[in-house]
Amino acid sequence: MSKAFGSYQDEIYAAGLRGIVSSYPMTYGGWEAGAQAALPPSVWSYVTGGAGNEHTQRANVAAFEDWGLVPRMFVGAAQRDLSVELFRMRLPTPLFMAPVGVIGLCAQDGHGDLATARAAARTGVPMIASTLTVDPLEAVAAELGGTPGFFQLYTPTDRELAASLVQRAEAAGFRGIVVTLDTWVTGWRPRDLETGNFPQLRGNCLANYTSDPVFRSRLERSPEEDPVAAVQHWSQVFGNPLTWDDLPWLRSLTTLPLIVKGICHPEDVRRAKDGGVDAVYCSNHGGRQANGGLSALDALPAVVDAAGDLPVLFDSGVRSGTDAVKALALGATAVGVGRPYAYGLALGGTEGVVHVLRSILAEADLTMAVDGYPDLAALTPQALHRTR
Ligand code: FNR
Repeated sequence: MSKAFGSYQDEIYAAGLRGIVSSYPMTYGGWEAGAQAALPPSVWSYVTGGAGNEHTQRANVAAFEDWGLVPRMFVGAAQRDLSVELFRMRLPTPLFMAPVGVIGLCAQDGHGDLATARAAARTGVPMIASTLTVDPLEAVAAELGGTPGFFQLYTPTDRELAASLVQRAEAAGFRGIVVTLDTWVTGWRPRDLETGNFPQLRGNCLANYTSDPVFRSRLERSPEEDPVAAVQHWSQVFGNPLTWDDLPWLRSLTTLPLIVKGICHPEDVRRAKDGGVDAVYCSNHGGRQANGGLSALDALPAVVDAAGDLPVLFDSGVRSGTDAVKALALGATAVGVGRPYAYGLALGGTEGVVHVLRSILAEADLTMAVDGYPDLAALTPQALHRTR
């Protein structure tokens, strides 16, 4: 039985009795506004923006309003169990932090990856560490405490470099490899184009590359001596337009659970399953890549159906505990947030992320309490009513 996440509100009301009001906002809108005020404009627009006119990004969020959770009474859901089994681990919650490159830059001290890992350690909410970090993956892993972490791989064209990154992630203690498939080329992002801003090309968040022996071996001079050449080399090897023919090779890189991210079509689920992946990750990158207009939530039921007993991770558009509950009811095994925790980081470093995660978990827990769903097994599609 997991602990009562809803008790976060008791702490907040008890502090209120002592005259202490939380300095953190309680809604996504508040986190967003606070982050906008706290972040440098170039980081803010990179994090908040998406592809094209951001239709997909809005659709991701709006899709949750197409579903209503049906309240059930006389259930007596006095205790809720939000724990979930994933890759033979019992996790206290079904929530995780999606990989966000540049979170390093979102913390006031410029070490947001470490601050996020500390929040994972504090909350038990797993972090998927991006390939694009300010601090190398070994340093991030060292801050995770007892909470499992996962490493997200942007597969470079240099296969030896890919293998090196995976081996380092294994050695550092990460518990799975998440291969992101939807970002071998950057989507058309007007906000970043208008400011000519792409953080990695400015040398940001490349620590996993510049600390890598294979990457370094490809350079004539070290990244410390010639940072511009290192960035140039990075831009040449970063994006690999993988095909199904590459899946056996990816599978061969690790015995850790292999998760493929960006899967939105049932046929892709079946092929990934045939290729021996351990989970699929339904996501459209938070609307940052292709502005096609289909929300990730609308893609989820067919992905779940095709996945059968394969776990399905989900993200894109989750803004609250209620959203997380709806995605779980539609069959997600675990639910990720991206921008919400990035904004928490901007608001208050580790403390800010802990607040955002605890708020989302508290709302999920209390929604399940009020509506009579004591555990995740009770959250089936029958718990939802399509409102539009
Ligand atoms: C991302 N995302 C992402 N995904 C990934 O696999 N590797 C990465 O490095 C990044 N980087 C990244 C940067 C920023 C600023 C954002 C906002 C997102 C996508 C991320 O993992 C996730 O799919 C989305 O953030 C989920 O959508 P929401 O929760 O932001 O709506």
